[in-house]
Amino acid sequence: MSGTSGSDQMWANKMWGGRFAAGPSAIMREINASIPFDKALWGQDIAASKAHVAMLAAQGIVSSEDAAAIAGGLDRIAAEYAANGVPENWDLEDIHMTTESRLAELIGPAAGRLHTARSRNDQVATDFRLWVRDAIDEADAGLRALQVALVTRAGEHAGSIMPGFTHLQTAQPVTLGHHLMAYYEMIRRDRSRLADARVRMNECPLGAAALAGTGFPIDRTATAAALGFDRPTANSLDSVSDRDFALDFLMTAAQISLHLSRLAEEFIIWASQPFGFVVLPDSLSTGSSIMPQKKNPDAAELVRGHSGRIVGSLTSLMITMKGLPLAYSKDMQDDKPPVFEAASLLALSVAAMTGMVAEARFRTDRMRAAAELGYATATDLADWLVRQADIPFRQAHHITGTAVRLAESRGIALDQVPLDDLRAIDARIDDRVYAALSVEASVAARASHGGTAPTQVALRVAEARSALGLEN
Ligand code: ARG
Repeated sequence: MSGTSGSDQMWANKMWGGRFAAGPSAIMREINASIPFDKALWGQDIAASKAHVAMLAAQGIVSSEDAAAIAGGLDRIAAEYAANGVPENWDLEDIHMTTESRLAELIGPAAGRLHTARSRNDQVATDFRLWVRDAIDEADAGLRALQVALVTRAGEHAGSIMPGFTHLQTAQPVTLGHHLMAYYEMIRRDRSRLADARVRMNECPLGAAALAGTGFPIDRTATAAALGFDRPTANSLDSVSDRDFALDFLMTAAQISLHLSRLAEEFIIWASQPFGFVVLPDSLSTGSSIMPQKKNPDAAELVRGHSGRIVGSLTSLMITMKGLPLAYSKDMQDDKPPVFEAASLLALSVAAMTGMVAEARFRTDRMRAAAELGYATATDLADWLVRQADIPFRQAHHITGTAVRLAESRGIALDQVPLDDLRAIDARIDDRVYAALSVEASVAARASHGGTAPTQVALRVAEARSALGLEN
């Protein structure tokens, strides 16, 4: 279809065609159309329109007959969309005009009263907030399920010993339960970030109209309440130009994805043959087309990879919003694709990691054996010297370093160094030291609040289970 057909009224846009002598070019129609993606807002758009028209009727701005016809038509459109999907006609630009145009087909001129005292600017801001609010609730439910998986496996492994790392070098023995509960804490903070974002965003922009409010006697408190918002927004300019709520969601999604990416990376490392700490569930692994022995951690790798795209979505919307003057600018139509993409990648990533945590087979024998290597209990020797011989920690550290060097030169563990040799390094050492050098003694000793001792881990798991409403 030719875009610049002069006075040919065939093209005329039903919503704003009155002022125009010529129609949009094909390029204009294509660049302008958001229906390919904002059709995802159809449910929110219909709910907000129904709340709006009910308020218009209650305020005597439209007749109750027209309001009933509009509401009935909107219900019918919702049923059509649910059954057949949303039709994509670029001439109708977006979900708002698509729905209003269908309403006119169904109920005639009364449809034109729906847009009284509102604009697409407050309409899209309202729809998008409703969508983001649902996305927050969905993300929270997914994260809760991940927490349940983490505390369940942590409870099973409160006493399973593994090497703890710093710099990915063996540092001190820890328990697998302790390690898993570290991720429980990250997710706990993430859920609190989502809850914060939800409280902050739960104000209704509907009624801000194009940018300045409206002269009609609308009741914004009523529409806000009907849509589950706490209150109407306070400034009409801010209402139509604000996308903080979407950015808050993306910032939290980015933070969550960083946590998931770190957890995914642990599984990838642990599943590699030299580690062999975990056997990943077949259901979340893939094979190689050439190497028959391979079982690859693709799901974990994709979670790690998706975090890049989620952070990219945040960057995308931040750059879109930067420097926009008040109030609405069409740039803001680009707010939706990054949010939609981040939300669906996040949901998939959370589900994948939940499955991985729930179904992984931890090879506690290999973890325990690895904890014996690398002189993981050297700190325990130093601590013993401080406690039993009242040696300042710095000096104890030095004595222990000498003992580690000796053990290393002979290729033996610290607790295999004969007492005479230890006493040659420092005469204050006696045979009670060996009890402190086992990995069990090492983790059991770290019973400070939040430490890795199995007693502490069990306490934290019990607290977490109560917080999640699970039985202990
Ligand atoms: N499709 C538009 C968007 O998503 C709706 C708002 C259009 N407003 C306007 N003044 N053209 O941003």
